[in-house]
Amino acid sequence: MSRLYDWLDSRLKLKSVERTLLDEPIPGGASWIYVFGSATLFLFVLQAVTGMFLAVYYAPTPDHAYDSVQYIENQVTFGWFVRGLHHWGASAMVVAIGLHMLQVFLYGAFKPPRELMWMVGVVLFLIVMMFAFTGYLLPWDQTAYWATQIGINMAGTVPLVGDFLVKVLRGGETLGALTLSRFFAVHVLFLPALILAGIMLHLFILRRVGPAGPWDEAKAAAGSETFYPRQVYMDAVVMLGVFIVLAALATLVPFPLTDKADPSDTSFVPVPEWYFLFYYEFLKHVHGPLEPVATWILPGAAVLVMLFWPFLDWQKKVRAPASRPLGMALGVLFLVFVFSLLGISLKNLYAVKRVDPAIAHGKALVKQFGCTACHRIHGEGGAIGPELSYVGDRRPEREWHFKHFRNPQSVSPGSIMPKFPLTDQELHDLTSYMLSLRRET
Ligand code: HEC
Repeated sequence: MSRLYDWLDSRLKLKSVERTLLDEPIPGGASWIYVFGSATLFLFVLQAVTGMFLAVYYAPTPDHAYDSVQYIENQVTFGWFVRGLHHWGASAMVVAIGLHMLQVFLYGAFKPPRELMWMVGVVLFLIVMMFAFTGYLLPWDQTAYWATQIGINMAGTVPLVGDFLVKVLRGGETLGALTLSRFFAVHVLFLPALILAGIMLHLFILRRVGPAGPWDEAKAAAGSETFYPRQVYMDAVVMLGVFIVLAALATLVPFPLTDKADPSDTSFVPVPEWYFLFYYEFLKHVHGPLEPVATWILPGAAVLVMLFWPFLDWQKKVRAPASRPLGMALGVLFLVFVFSLLGISLKNLYAVKRVDPAIAHGKALVKQFGCTACHRIHGEGGAIGPELSYVGDRRPEREWHFKHFRNPQSVSPGSIMPKFPLTDQELHDLTSYMLSLRRET
């Protein structure tokens, strides 16, 4: 083994490469807090590998995309697992980058001389977001289609270049085959090329300026430790941990496709991925003349501030968090903003999910048919007929309601309640709503 190594080394000069790769000094020594960057790198590799296998079966056309994803999920050996890893890997990537940036921010590691490294990092983060946006459309289900529609419409609100952006993103007059093939091309060719270049630049700069180490100068000066073996070991443990978590998620948590995309069904309300949720919530609260603030002014400003933060930062030499309270407060404020919106959004989503669509439809029918002219439901309506607020407790059988709605007199002789011309679907949904009106929650 070592003879082979010597032979290769005499030709390829491996020993000096080995030294650059493994003997990089870390000021203050190895630490678990430095693992997020390599965790992100690991996730990138995982996304690349799983993505390659998905691309073997995936067909980027509106006629076949949905079916090909279903085929991967149900027919291809371990297809569901690879798709699961890719799906959860994307989320994990956002988490890992977020933690990495948080650590760099907390440690003041973006400060001189590491401004360029931070800026390339922000660009990498934006590329990851573009991966998420373009990847979301590919399964071509209802959620994918309508969420992308929203994203493209937002780009259209940017002044001057909005129309151009929409054209570039969509490719045609409507979201369709041209959009899908360009999203696919960007997702599997353009962005990977860009991100590879970005990662190499990021690591190149790291090697030139070296890792920042602890903010405490005395600690940093106390001595350094090489990257190998302890930091390599810590990074490897975290990578293994990340993989185990993702494998568990892919195996245990199903994430079924919604229906195949139907461009004519404009009533579909899409839900974006969780990492766009806080923003989705924010959009819901901004209307009218303020809309551009939400759709492009604020995001644009946020990106610029993030990108140029090392230059905007007024305490260029101070790294310890305790000595830069205002910078820390701004960071915390930003996190509170994002996580409060995310919390509200998740709460609303959960509330919506619990309402069965049949019940929601039944409720709408009660309005439509004017049932409250005669019935009171939770404080609203007349007193000609019995109050219905808790009718589900009193009349729990579906069959009874069917009979009653078809012909009220058949079960209540002499009833003045009219026979409504209900379709089977309406009969069914109205009954579901009646049965849901119960005292217990
Ligand atoms: C013109 C007044 C009137 C309208 C409009 C009306 N109802 Fe009624 N409804 C009554 C009367 C009177 C009764 C009591 C006699 C009976 O059971 O048919 C009744 C009974 C009921 C009952 C049985 C309640 C019980 O506790 O036994 C249900 C359920 C009901 N209505 C649902 C509806 C729904 C849903 C609509 C709208 C699609 C509706 N009603 C519209 C007058 C009305």
